[in-house]
Amino acid sequence: MGDDESGRRPAPSRSSGPAGPGLVTDELIQLEVGPVAHGGHCVARYDGRVVFVRHALPGEVVLARLTESAPDAKFWRADAVEAIEPSPERVQPPCPVAGPGLCGGCDWQHADLTTQRRLKADVVTEQLRRIAKLDQVPDVVVEGPDGDGLGWRTRVRFTVDTEGRPGLRKHRSHDVIAVKECLIAAPAASSLGVLDARWPNALAVEVISPSVGDPLVVAEPVAGRTGDKLRLPRLPLGTNLATRDDTGVHQVKGRTWVTEEVTVDGEPRPFRVTGTGFWQVHPAAAQTLLDAVLSAAGAQPGERALDLYGGVGLFAAGLAAQVGVTGSVILVEGDARASSDARRGLHDLDQVRVENGSVPRVLPRLAADGGPLAPAGPEGARGGADVVVLDPPRSGAGKDVIAQVVALAPRVVVYVACDPAALARDLATAAAAGYRLTGLRAFDLFPMTHHVECVAVLEPAGDRPAPAAVPAVAERAPRPRAGGRPGGSARGRRRN
Ligand SMILES: C[S@@+](CC[C@H](N)C(=O)[O-])C[C@H]1O[C@@H](n2cnc3c(N)ncnc32)[C@H](O)[C@@H]1O
Repeated sequence: MGDDESGRRPAPSRSSGPAGPGLVTDELIQLEVGPVAHGGHCVARYDGRVVFVRHALPGEVVLARLTESAPDAKFWRADAVEAIEPSPERVQPPCPVAGPGLCGGCDWQHADLTTQRRLKADVVTEQLRRIAKLDQVPDVVVEGPDGDGLGWRTRVRFTVDTEGRPGLRKHRSHDVIAVKECLIAAPAASSLGVLDARWPNALAVEVISPSVGDPLVVAEPVAGRTGDKLRLPRLPLGTNLATRDDTGVHQVKGRTWVTEEVTVDGEPRPFRVTGTGFWQVHPAAAQTLLDAVLSAAGAQPGERALDLYGGVGLFAAGLAAQVGVTGSVILVEGDARASSDARRGLHDLDQVRVENGSVPRVLPRLAADGGPLAPAGPEGARGGADVVVLDPPRSGAGKDVIAQVVALAPRVVVYVACDPAALARDLATAAAAGYRLTGLRAFDLFPMTHHVECVAVLEPAGDRPAPAAVPAVAERAPRPRAGGRPGGSARGRRRN
């Protein structure tokens, strides 16, 4: 924030001047900042045109630099570079690279944590109202884990720049800002020396700080750099080092996996997570979400539960305890390594079955004649599922999967969502199919960023329907991608 590089305060463009061709990217304009919008920015208007402005807070008057301003664009983007009339909720960002034109990883470092949570609640409410078109939007309170919002990120992927330095990407850019520290990262990201080292043979490097045992560093090598050509920096004793490419995760030193631990049914339970496979990122997230999901699901002994997009089995383990040995849990996961970790981690639970494959393809198979979810057979068994937990990637479950879930006629659906827009779209589909939102909790599991995790509960709007045939889905279901983790950066540059 503040003066431009020359030290002079730049003159803003007229706020009442003509929109369009007169203004170019990098030009400064004065904006009155309106409400928060999904994506880590607020809405302002410049001569009637919507401008999404980052680094601002609702109610402020700011001087903003246009970052995207095509004359024919429906909306523009800008970065607030000076708060002319600052909000009382504005704080000095703790990180020196959080700000306009710098690291794009954090969106709200300039707001105190209480304000961040209120803004996230506003976003969830707005998405439910506008996209899900709910008649009555529940009061959204974003619950937060303790702490100051720093030092929590147990998985951080650093992109390596052309000099071999790890860094973080600028917002909506492939440019990399080399960093020596990331303040939201768990301490291992800095203490292992990963950020001080040069990684000329890598495109990216991910630091994984598990809840149990030594950290794991996974490098993505530049194509062709294997064997003797793969020289990676030395890391402290005890650090596991691996590489990851299209063929899998490869050991360099120590283990290629980490152990995460969560309390399930009163006992600590280990989960194995290989390489950069998905695990909740905030140290409090796995337990928080498991507890929220189980309390919403309330699965009963003997019931049939589904854990869709189940990863390495976090929710399946808890559902297994609820349904007991007379019930069943089917976990569906698209990533082969995560499915194999789930099988290994849940092998002691006879009531759990792990299915590897894409959810929209696996469900019709499970519900086909003779399958474990087939609609009522001649013996009068009910068929379908009693409880469905789904935790899809950012894009959401989509219409096809929601139709399939509804066809199973569960008494309750527990939807864990990392994107409120995708959740709202899926809620609209579910509502049209007879399932209504009966509960919603939101959690601030990504402090300083705009991301917010929701746990939504859906139940039949009237009497519980009978299971129906699960519709098959036309091919080209989205290819499962390990992760789908908010804030994960896109693939790095390719070098040969
Ligand atoms: C947000 S993660 C949730 C994982 C797990 N529920 C947990 O909390 O640890 C989403 C998971 O869905 C998987 N996935 C993505 N698309 C999929 C698909 N079409 N079918 C099955 N799994 C998929 C990913 O591999 C990832 O493990």
